[in-house]
Order: sequence, then C-alpha cells, then structure tokens
Amino acid sequence: MRILCTLVLCFVCVQLIADPIRIIPQPVSVTEKPGRFVLDAGVRLHVEDPSLQPAAAWFSSQMGIAVGKGKKEIILGKPVDRNVLGKEGYTLTITPSAIHIRANEAAGVFYGLQTVLQLLPPDAGASGKWVPCAEITDYPRFGWRGLMLDVSRHFFTKEEVERYIDEMVRYKYNTLHLHLSDDQGWRLEIKSLPELTRKGAWRVARTGRWGEFMPALANEPATEGGFYTQDDMREIIQYAKERFVTLLPEIDIPAHSLALIASYPSLSCTQLNYPVNAGFRNPTRDDNALCIGNDSIYEVLDRIFTELAALFPSEYIHIGGDEAYKGFWAACPKCQRRMSEEHLNNVDELQSYFVKRMEKMLKDKGKKLIGWDEILEGGLAPEATVMSWRGMKGGITAARMNHKVVMTPWDFCYLDLYQGESAAEPPTYGICRLKDSYTYDPVPDSVDEKYILGGQGNLWTESVANFRHVEYMTWPRALALAEVYWSQKAARNWDGFVSRMEHEFQRMDAADIKYARSAYNVILTPKRTTDRDFAVTMSTEVNGLDIYYTFDQTNPDKHYPKYNGTPVKFPMGATQLNVITYRDGRPIGVQVNVRKEDLAKRVDQGRHVY
Ligand code: ACM
Ligand code: ZN
Repeated sequence: MRILCTLVLCFVCVQLIADPIRIIPQPVSVTEKPGRFVLDAGVRLHVEDPSLQPAAAWFSSQMGIAVGKGKKEIILGKPVDRNVLGKEGYTLTITPSAIHIRANEAAGVFYGLQTVLQLLPPDAGASGKWVPCAEITDYPRFGWRGLMLDVSRHFFTKEEVERYIDEMVRYKYNTLHLHLSDDQGWRLEIKSLPELTRKGAWRVARTGRWGEFMPALANEPATEGGFYTQDDMREIIQYAKERFVTLLPEIDIPAHSLALIASYPSLSCTQLNYPVNAGFRNPTRDDNALCIGNDSIYEVLDRIFTELAALFPSEYIHIGGDEAYKGFWAACPKCQRRMSEEHLNNVDELQSYFVKRMEKMLKDKGKKLIGWDEILEGGLAPEATVMSWRGMKGGITAARMNHKVVMTPWDFCYLDLYQGESAAEPPTYGICRLKDSYTYDPVPDSVDEKYILGGQGNLWTESVANFRHVEYMTWPRALALAEVYWSQKAARNWDGFVSRMEHEFQRMDAADIKYARSAYNVILTPKRTTDRDFAVTMSTEVNGLDIYYTFDQTNPDKHYPKYNGTPVKFPMGATQLNVITYRDGRPIGVQVNVRKEDLAKRVDQGRHVY
C-alpha cells in the first residue's frame, strides 16, 4: 500500500511539474525540456544587438528587469538563419541558466517576450516567477493581424485605447484600426476644421437600447462624446509603436458622414441641418452622405487627409466607403452634373469616381487607400486594397483582380455580434460564435494567398457603451482570431485551443480583463417536426459538458433531466425552456431561459438570426 501511495504521489508531482506549455496563438513548433528558468532578482536583460533595444525597453519596464550583463541572463540576439523568421518571427531557447531570444528585428524579440510572459504561471507570479525550459520557433502566417475599434458610436478615452493595445499585443496582434468617424461622432481634432470637434464630437445623452432612442429635443444640449486632440493621438501612436502596433485611421466617407455633415451642413446633397445621431430611431438615417458633385467636399477632405497623413505613420488610410445610400445622389443637380461631365453611367460609377479621386488625393500625400468592399461597386480604384466584410466575396473578387485584401467577413470576424445563446447576452444582432471565429480561414480556395494580407476582428460599438463591455465582446473571440491570423493552418485544433484558452482565462482574471464565457452556454437549435411543431436540439461549443433542462419554469441543476442527444419537444402547455450546463458536476454556463415563441421564430432560419 505504501508503495502504491508513493507511486500515486510521484505521478501527481510529475503532473504538477509537467504542466504543458499552453500559448495563444499556437507557435510553429514547441519542444518542452526538463527544468525551469527562475526569474529572480539577479536576472539581467542582455541586448546583443542595438537594433533589438526597442523591445528590451518595453520588457524591462514591464517586468522590472534591469538591462545589462549578469550571471543569469535573458539574451536578445540575432538568429543564425535569418530567412525563416522574417520580420516578426523569433526563436526562444529556455535553459535553467538563460533565456535566449533570437530575431531579425525588434518586433520578433517583442513577440518572443510575449511568449515568455505566457509561460509564467497564470497567477501573476504568486507561485513564483519561473518559466519551463523549452525550444520554440515561431513566426506569423500573416503580416496584417488586426482589431478594429469603433470609437465613434461610443467614445473610448486615450487610456482605454492604450489598454486595448496592451491587451491585443499579448496575442501578437500588430494593427489597431480606429473607426474615427461616423453618424454618431467625429473623434479626431482637425485643426483647420474646428467645427468637427466643437460640434461633430458631441451628441445628446441617451442610455438604454441603442437604435430605439428618442430624437434630440429642441435646444437639448449635446453633452456626450469626446475626441482625441492631435497631441492625444500622437501619444497613442507612440504608445502603439513601442508595442509594434500600427494604427490604421479610418474616416468613413462618402456615407456614414453625419457627424461631418452636422458640423458643415452644406456638404450633403440635401444641405439639411441634423444633430449628431445618438442612437435615435431615425427616419432620415439614409441622409448621411457627402454630395459628390460639390467641389467643396474635396477641399474639406483635402484638409482632413492632409492632417491625417501628417499625423499617422501608417502606410494606409482607410476611407470607409461602406453602405452608401445613393438615392440623394440620383436626385441631386450637382451630382447629376458631375455624372454627365465625367461620363458616368450610374450612381455606382459616381461612387467609384469619388473613391478614385480619394485614392489620388491620398497618393499625393504618400498614403495608400484601403476601403470596405463596397469600393468595388462601379469599378475599383487602380491600387486600392479591399477590406472584405460582406462575407469573403468582395475579397475574392479583389484578389482575382490582383488587389490586396484584408479579410473581415462579418459572420466570422464581427465582435459586436452575439457570441452565444442570445437569450443570455446583451442585445445586438446576428451571431458569431467563438467556434465560428476559430474555424474560419482567411484564404478561400481558389485565391492566391499572396493577395491576402491577413485579417481583423471588428468591434462596432453601437451596443458597447463602456470599456468593460469592449473587453467582454473582444475576448475570447479575438484569442481565436489571433490564432487564425498568426498560427499555421495545420496547427488548428479546437479542443487544444479550448484548453489553452481556459488556461489564459486564469491569466485574464489576474489582469482583471473581462471576457465572455458564452462558449460554455447551451446552443438551442429548433428543427421543424411537423407543420405546426418543432423539437429542440441542445449542444455546446466546448466539448464534454452536461446539459440539464426543464419546462416547468424552475431553475434546473444536475438533479433535473439531462439532455441525452434526442431533440426534445415542448410538452403540451409548456411555454418556456430553462437550461444550464455543467462540467464535472459543477455549473459552468449561465442558465438560459427561452420562451417557446422565441424558439419558434428560429425554426427554418439560418444560423445567423439568433
Ligand atoms: C460595415 O460593417 N458597415 C463595414
Ligand atoms: Zn449631390
């Protein structure tokens, strides 16, 4: 018996010591080795090559490790084989006496250090600061790995944007796309157009369910909003640069331009006065486009993009281009005159004329144009890059025309959508589950991968009124997308990802980052059985969970009926299904209560309606 106990104890100890290496995004290759490197007070950060210094500065301030030579070192140096690693790759060798990170450029060192941080115990060092010995080689599949934050529908402060940058770089994202203008607010100081931030950045205050708010009252003060001064933005840009993140600014034109039009009403076809939209139920919401026939808009846009080009070091500027209602152009004498002078056959070609003119304007300022996939309508500008959001179709069309593409199809990449059973989530529209994000691939068959720069997760913020909810909507779907954009396709493994994600949840708890646990909730799929009835299939994204349910309106637990895989029908008279998920005898999801009439609406609908 003593021998057996000793053996069991040894087994438990080995299990504890051999905690597997769990990194997101999954590196190209990981070999675990025996032993550990302890980060004690004697450790020094030794930079062998001055070009790698920028990554050292960040790590040194983060970890309180002094730069210099010591007995025990984290050594940052250049690799022997420079070809494999590219601009952002690294090798990481950890032995009990040294951590050696080798990379061609400082960005690669930075990502190697991010991997080191993920190797630390998730409890922020309470159990001691050490990392397991290992050999890791790692480089990204795509060079464009982005998140988009809509700071127009709700404004987020400089400090919040910087926190977002800190969070995204943990997972090796390198691009932050800021949606800086829309109908609901103008967010960047343009010195030559002061009305944009005096008026366009502010709206009346409303809270509750977005899109259903009462219109502004006569003389109601516009108190809600905000904007970044150019000095603020320079600070954000510098903060991002120190973390190897490019800021991509978007000014959404010719539509989604109500904040600009509210500031300068003569720029639209109707020239009507509107307040900045505060999420109103709004019959005139289509009247938000610039008048393409009006020469003044090009003067105004030239001022805006002159200041933008001087401020942002990015190669690209995003001009939006999405969802333009073209009816006002069709009825406007100035737009009609432009069409006849330029021999344009229809309003699609008028939009294309506008985008081509913007491309030329940006090129003269040393910038490349990127826009949403609507810029394909009426003919793509000669050198434009397309951000494909209405599925992958626009991206495929553009790539086949040898244009570069950034993939952000809404049903896989939109972080504003439901991420689990809608009855248990704050209201939004459409659904994009964690597994949808994880299993999507940005390179469709039949497209040459060289045209796909990479992709993004996009967080629109109509229904995201505070930064905690920004985090909730971003994580963990952006963990899944980080792996899609960084890791090799062959490394994709759902169960493996879930295990690494759960490990990361502990790290996020320690860092007080909010994330959604929606993937633990039940998925209810009603399927028609007869003309008048349906049965409900219950499943979960995370494997191995138990599902308990009831129709009697009480709160189910593990003593209630357990779903056994056979679809269930509502008993006669029952009006509501209540469900909860368990793992290993403990509740893990939240209780989901759904009314029969709401489930009935989903019958025969595609997956994206709830
Ligand atoms: C978009 O979602 N309108 C680009
Ligand atoms: Zn017009």
